[in-house]
Amino acid sequence: MNVTIIGTGYVGLVTGACLADIGNNVLCMDLDTRKIDTLNAGGIPIYEPGLGELVESNAAAKRLSFTTDIEASVAHGEVQFIAVGTPPDEDGSADLQYVLAAARNIGKYMNGFKVVVDKSTVPVGTADKVAAVIQEELDKRGRTDLRFSVVSNPEFLKEGAAVEDFMRPDRIVIGYSDDEDGREALAAMRKLYAPFNRNHERTRVMDVRSAEFTKYAANAMLATRISFMNELANLADRVGADIEAVRQGIGSDPRIGYSFLYAGTGYGGSCFPKDIQALTRIARDNGQTLRVLESVEEVNDEQKRVLTQKVLDRFGPDLSDRSFALWGLAFKPNTDDMREAPSRVVLDALLRAGARVVAHDPIAVDETRRVLQLDFADAPALLERVSFSSAKDPMEVLAGTDALIIVTEWKAYRSPNLERLKALMKSPVIFDGRNLYEPGVMKEAGVVYQGIGRNSL
Ligand code: UDX
Repeated sequence: MNVTIIGTGYVGLVTGACLADIGNNVLCMDLDTRKIDTLNAGGIPIYEPGLGELVESNAAAKRLSFTTDIEASVAHGEVQFIAVGTPPDEDGSADLQYVLAAARNIGKYMNGFKVVVDKSTVPVGTADKVAAVIQEELDKRGRTDLRFSVVSNPEFLKEGAAVEDFMRPDRIVIGYSDDEDGREALAAMRKLYAPFNRNHERTRVMDVRSAEFTKYAANAMLATRISFMNELANLADRVGADIEAVRQGIGSDPRIGYSFLYAGTGYGGSCFPKDIQALTRIARDNGQTLRVLESVEEVNDEQKRVLTQKVLDRFGPDLSDRSFALWGLAFKPNTDDMREAPSRVVLDALLRAGARVVAHDPIAVDETRRVLQLDFADAPALLERVSFSSAKDPMEVLAGTDALIIVTEWKAYRSPNLERLKALMKSPVIFDGRNLYEPGVMKEAGVVYQGIGRNSL
């Protein structure tokens, strides 16, 4: 099928490359000339495992191309995916200006039936707004003969595993309008996604608003599990229980399950914080307070400070003659994404308390340098006390440090040589925000070890 993807950000590019890979003819459009130039030159503007190869091979096979030409992109696809950004407004609601601008262009230039797919995460009711904008443009053109239908097809991609998630989805949610155009749109969507349903029907068809809601509900549920476990972990620290044992104890109940119950330094990224805020806002706009979810956000903000509080408890409030190694900057492994990353809160607290920091991350160092310019705009001199490494051997940054602080669970940090660690550090102290190691093993090795909710030993 001919497919157009509007927006070559993270979601758009993954969707475009994957749909091309299963044989569609995909044209990706972005107004950002630099991005399109990069893509046309064979580069990709984001770090995502497997995506570069997929873009390259499908571009070479001429199934995937890139353009800044709006008119050509509208003409190309019978299915038009809107995958542009929806950054939070000042009040936390999703900013729809890019989504609606894309809709306006579709209305301006379309010349035949179009299935318009909302892929970006958007508030409940957005599909109606998109339809109204397209209709408005058609009315202006006097082309009331042209038909279209707006479908909601939210993405559930995890950064770092997005290609895999797209190619092997748990579910494909399609929200459509139950009218003639809507049914035609649904048939097109079913055809497009048929290759993913070969062995097992994964499509969940529903009305548009429920589909829009489903995306927020999924992220809200997952974030709730994390904040819930983080709160219990902090209590476990107080009462001498081990949250990891508790996780396994409760996870064996199939109603609960094991996954997404890891206590840590709080969730970050581009989705959870933004979507939780947006859903909270949607509720308030509709006269309801989501009390559980508002607490989820509050708990998460506090959780990002738990690790540094442990550091301050041990070393005191003035860290000016201390130096720390920091392992992991990205909000999670296999990405360079620093949006809402807990490491930013940790760095903020350490540097402002006077510490020196040597930070390691395999991928996210450049992106960290960029965001720290913004975080420390009020005190740029503090940045002289932090240095970065993306060396293959993360142990290098341990030399002469007072403690190691772990914020992201990159594979390279999983099994450090403890004898070497002890030899390198001033004293072997680890604050582990991702509970990577067994407290008993650390104790035996003579390493002072504090995880999150693991102080029972
Ligand atoms: C998430 C959703 O998983 C995905 O379905 C949606 O489309 C976008 O948002 P992503 O933000 O890429 O994806 O990352 P995810 O792997 O879900 O992790 C989110 C955050 O939660 C990370 O900061 C991670 O460290 C944290 N987390 C996750 C925990 O603290 N504990 C857990 O048990 C799981």
